[in-house]
Amino acid sequence: MEKVVLVTGASSGIGLALCDRLLTTDSRLRLCLACRNMQRAEAARSALLTSHSNARVDLLHLDVGSVQSVLAAAQEFKARYNRIDFLYLNAGIMPNPQFDVKAFFKGLFSRNVINMFVTAEGLLTQQDRLNSDGLQEVFATNLFGHFLLIRELEPLLCEAAHTSRIVWTSSSNACRSAFSIEDVQHGNGMEPYSSSKYASDMLSLALNRHKNSQGLFSSVMCPGLVMTNLTYGILPSFFWILVTPIMWLIRIFTNTFTLTPYNGAEALHWLFVQNPESLDPRAKYHSLTSGLGAWNYTQPRQMDIDEEMSEVLYSKLLDLEKVVRKNECEKC
Ligand SMILES: NC(=O)c1ccc[n+]([C@@H]2O[C@H](COP(=O)([O-])OP(=O)(O)OC[C@H]3O[C@@H](n4cnc5c(N)ncnc54)[C@H](OP(=O)(O)O)[C@@H]3O)[C@@H](O)[C@H]2O)c1
Repeated sequence: MEKVVLVTGASSGIGLALCDRLLTTDSRLRLCLACRNMQRAEAARSALLTSHSNARVDLLHLDVGSVQSVLAAAQEFKARYNRIDFLYLNAGIMPNPQFDVKAFFKGLFSRNVINMFVTAEGLLTQQDRLNSDGLQEVFATNLFGHFLLIRELEPLLCEAAHTSRIVWTSSSNACRSAFSIEDVQHGNGMEPYSSSKYASDMLSLALNRHKNSQGLFSSVMCPGLVMTNLTYGILPSFFWILVTPIMWLIRIFTNTFTLTPYNGAEALHWLFVQNPESLDPRAKYHSLTSGLGAWNYTQPRQMDIDEEMSEVLYSKLLDLEKVVRKNECEKC
């Protein structure tokens, strides 16, 4: 039976590299690229077909940050396909990032220096805003739109005939210190990206608790530091080129500087070929690159997650889902 795989944020970076790797592994896949910009989606599809001429690559319009778009895309997906094997929740944004140069130099001469390079904890802040649904944009894009998509696709994801998988592209910047259960949208803080990624780690755990018995398994991964549009939004590309030799040096100690989208997609690809029952729901699967950059591998690392809080988050998201659905109905 051919597998159906849906990838959000497939138009560039890690998502596009993942699609290429999946088609190399399984040429019979039905791959659906879910993208907000159809021009970029078409370009991604053409690039994939250039190297995989017989591949089946479909496009789906999805702005994961818009409730209406998520609901419409899910309807379209269910009308087109009668199953889903993998749902890669990879789309993500980090708008208006600010790099704290002072904190960076302070960290550089501290004992915490390696951890600072790995997690960027305390170095990155963003300016978030409300979107047209009245939700914080980063929360809506990185977490809630994906949650709504899962909820909409549940009839396919929880099909009794076979297991289905969800894989979240999280981050090592997912920090407990940035998340508050009283402010899950992070309307009052300056680290919405970190908060949204920490929330996705917790949601994955809750999904496993609620859905494993229905054949649905969720995993979380971290791509490491990868040069993509997202990182070029933090600091300009010339800066990254300048510090590349330093990053090669640091890679000897951390292995998390994967740098290329291909390397960053390592754990996403590795999870594709694993038996879901063998995976640890409390682990984050990291894409890593060996010290000299010669080879890639995947390593699980335990997440700093509170079970009880993940349950509260899950019920808060269910409550919010009811509200946004009601708002959507009122618009009709
Ligand atoms: N790069 C890193 O070092 C790094 C590290 C840790 C985690 N990550 C995570 O990796 C994932 C992929 O990011 P990337 O680094 O590959 O950056 P990227 O090249 O900017 O890719 C982000 C993807 O998400 C899509 N996207 C953004 N907002 C969307 C929306 N509202 N609806 C649908 N699609 C949307 C983008 O589409 P457009 O083409 O339309 O913009 C793009 O395809 C993200 O979740 C990011 O947080 C990246």
